[in-house]
Amino acid sequence: MKALVYHGPGKKSWEEKPKPVVTIPTDAIVKISKTTICGTDLHIMKCDVATVTNGRILGHEGVGIIEEIGNAVSNFKKGDHVLISCITSCGKCEYCKKGMYSHCEKGGWILGNTIDGTQAEYVRIPHADNSLYPIPAGADEDTLVMLSDILPTGFECGVLNGQVKPGDTMAIVGSGPIGLATLLTAQFYTPAVILMIDMDDNRLQVAKTFGATNLININQEDAIKKVMELTEGKGVDVAVEAVGIPATFELCQSIIAPGGHIANIGVHGKKVDLHLETLWSHNITITTRLVDTVTTPMLFKNVLSHKLDPLKLITHHFKLDDIVHAYDVFGNAAREQALKVILEA
Ligand SMILES: NC(=O)c1ccc[n+]([C@@H]2O[C@H](COP(=O)([O-])OP(=O)(O)OC[C@H]3O[C@@H](n4cnc5c(N)ncnc54)[C@H](O)[C@@H]3O)[C@@H](O)[C@H]2O)c1
Ligand SMILES: [Zn+2]
Ligand SMILES: [Zn+2]
Repeated sequence: MKALVYHGPGKKSWEEKPKPVVTIPTDAIVKISKTTICGTDLHIMKCDVATVTNGRILGHEGVGIIEEIGNAVSNFKKGDHVLISCITSCGKCEYCKKGMYSHCEKGGWILGNTIDGTQAEYVRIPHADNSLYPIPAGADEDTLVMLSDILPTGFECGVLNGQVKPGDTMAIVGSGPIGLATLLTAQFYTPAVILMIDMDDNRLQVAKTFGATNLININQEDAIKKVMELTEGKGVDVAVEAVGIPATFELCQSIIAPGGHIANIGVHGKKVDLHLETLWSHNITITTRLVDTVTTPMLFKNVLSHKLDPLKLITHHFKLDDIVHAYDVFGNAAREQALKVILEA
């Protein structure tokens, strides 16, 4: 089969790899029908994720058809149409029992990280019973790809950890797919003000159509000054970091109001300063989280009922074998006006 393979900093290729086979009885082999590229894959290409080694097939999102199952898989059968969660979970270990699938003793974020991922014609999904979701007939595949990672990530790491409440003022730093997924799902809790901060005007304009109340382009204005102006000098109740670089986490620290919550989502490859010399007395909470995907079933229902409509996050379609080009487009998002790209097998 063909797959997108990582070969060290900045290097990847679409190449021949052995087709995966069932290796433990809880595995399923899924034939990919649609997959996508995540901001995390861009971090991997920059060498920010040390666990990804040369030769790894990337990708942790997608939908497909079950090709083969191990004899311990009971929830699925060959031919089933499934959504792949970016997090693999056994459902039985101590962490899974706590709902912390991200730290499953036998799984977690392994796809496209420590085992081969979904940017391929076939993928092996361990612990298939708890790591796949059945897709009802007639559901739109493109939309469902947004449920593999970005919607649960924005919701769990940004909205739930940020403890967004009705009437809150929130800032989302980074208007990429994850920041926009945070924006969409934050509205379950009716925050009064949502400030979207980025340097990509196209992405900021998309945020406006998704319900952002104010847009701040960091290349055109001083973000801290602007947030303070808009909040009567108080700062925001919730600051969500959805980029993954030191500057944006520092920005969150500069705009958080007393009692506020800083919810980090970004994957950080470099150390970031923590300004306890100013924040120690401000009663703030800082959270970090690798998405658990425990809210996927709830988000799935809201997508199926169109209460949540992430379709506008998809800007480009490519054939799967054109994935190197798709990386170039997604990696130059401002130039290409790109958000999520769908790769179709
Ligand atoms: N915690 C998790 O479980 C989890 C899961 C998925 C993704 N992530 C991480 O979430 C982050 C966002 O993912 P994405 O797919 O949206 O990535 P992306 O690269 O598509 O988007 C990042 C956005 O940040 C903007 N940006 C860059 N520098 C900025 C700055 N100085 N100030 C303001 N905005 C700036 C970019 O213009 C872009 O719109 C990444 O770090 C990704 O690795 C984390
Ligand atoms: Zn991801
Ligand atoms: Zn587990």
